[in-house]
Amino acid sequence: MTAVEQNPLLEGLRLRRRPDPCILVIFGASGDLTAKKLIPALYSLAYRHLLPEKFGIIGAARTEESHDEFRERMKQAVKDHARDPFDDEVWSALATGMRYTTLDFADDKGEDELRDTLNELDRDLGTQGNRVYYFAVPPSAIGTLVGEIAQRRGAEGWVRLIIEKPFGHDLSSARELTAEIQQHFAENEVFRIDHYLGKETVQNMLALRFANGIFEPIWNRQFIDHVQITVAESIGIEGRAGYYEQAGAIRDIFQNHLLQLVALTAMEPPIDFTADSVRNEKVKVLKALHTPGPKHVVRGQYGPGFVEGEEVRGYREEEGVAPGSMTETFVAAKLYVDNWRWADTPFYVRMGKRLARRETTIAIQFKRAPHPPFDDGGEGLRPNVLLVHVQPNEGVSLAIGAKVPGQGMTIRTVHMDFLYGGAFREGLPDAYERLILDAMLGDATLFTRSDEIEEQWALVDAIIAFWQRDRPSFPNYPAGTWGPAASDDLLHRDGRSWRRH
Ligand code: BG6
Repeated sequence: MTAVEQNPLLEGLRLRRRPDPCILVIFGASGDLTAKKLIPALYSLAYRHLLPEKFGIIGAARTEESHDEFRERMKQAVKDHARDPFDDEVWSALATGMRYTTLDFADDKGEDELRDTLNELDRDLGTQGNRVYYFAVPPSAIGTLVGEIAQRRGAEGWVRLIIEKPFGHDLSSARELTAEIQQHFAENEVFRIDHYLGKETVQNMLALRFANGIFEPIWNRQFIDHVQITVAESIGIEGRAGYYEQAGAIRDIFQNHLLQLVALTAMEPPIDFTADSVRNEKVKVLKALHTPGPKHVVRGQYGPGFVEGEEVRGYREEEGVAPGSMTETFVAAKLYVDNWRWADTPFYVRMGKRLARRETTIAIQFKRAPHPPFDDGGEGLRPNVLLVHVQPNEGVSLAIGAKVPGQGMTIRTVHMDFLYGGAFREGLPDAYERLILDAMLGDATLFTRSDEIEEQWALVDAIIAFWQRDRPSFPNYPAGTWGPAASDDLLHRDGRSWRRH
């Protein structure tokens, strides 16, 4: 038995081949993402023996830092943010191959130093010239870096680029960035990350739909009344004003995470689970997606309020935000997927910061039973709803009508529940663990292709064009609520309402 097979933590994980020896270079290593997500994810992979046996990490950023300072900072990050207990042996093995390079993205000197460090690690660790470059930097820095990498690319080994969102700022900048990258690298070397695709519960949407015979036949306009997708966060902008003022909710979450959830819910069955088959189907949905007009898109910005019992300030009072900022922190929209399966079936989507609680759900609301033979007390029987709880309380539940025990025939809605916590012993891995590992293995199934990104931007550009025409009065929802009143109106107009879970 190998160490991997003996490890009970691996129960439930798909055992796959281990990646080739390689070095992971993180550009933007002084940022939050590296400390809160990337290094803790790498630690958890190391903890489960899933990293390559020969493996190095180089952090690169503008900040001056020694190798030891970087290692110390990352050690603390693992203690603070990793999902697994801190283990000295696991950490030491990871830290041995860890280096830091100061790199001003426009400065050649830093690039040479980076190349020398890479070569030195290749010699010391035996990483064979294989490289994964992780770009946790703004899109404007990517083009230059990619050019420098291509120029210094050695004769040996493979190269993979993992690119964080946002990929561009709009359709034309995304196309420019793609063109810049494609001058040097092939599409199969580029891994555009959308961490929602790495979430187990998001992938489970595919399992639910395509590993079960009972859902697909009713997964269409004949049986489904509408779909509701909510990506609600209770947190604010967490000190990221510089980024968020530029991005707003539409670029931060709508353009990527939310539209990917729509695509996975609406796509046709792929013929297999390979990168091209899955992405071909998703892109068809994104191409068919549109919003019927400005009236069907709502934007909001939070004012002061109470979230989970705590008083919080409004968006305009957050540090670094302009006092008259018109940046949206909430978006709701009605979308249609113009194809045979979904024509005329609304997809209502909403997402925002400082909402009542953290909750990401996909609710498939079926049509009502055509003729209930029971006395329903005048209230009407509730329709069936299939609820995918992406987070928290990860699982799936089906709302059905059941008879209340006792005399007569009174019906009440009850839930048939599947909870990850109850069904599987192993806790859910963080999305970044899965995605970093997949990129090292060269598997792009859970990464977005350039044509998907472009379709996503095309829709967002159309919505932003609507917004040029009016100026809502912000703030228009108190922190700790479910967004502006106009978001409720969006559904009320259609005789529907948002689910209150
Ligand atoms: C990121 C956004 O992509 O996703 C953040 O930039 C947001 O603003 C985060 O808070 C939400 O991710 P999760 O995994 O906590 O739902």
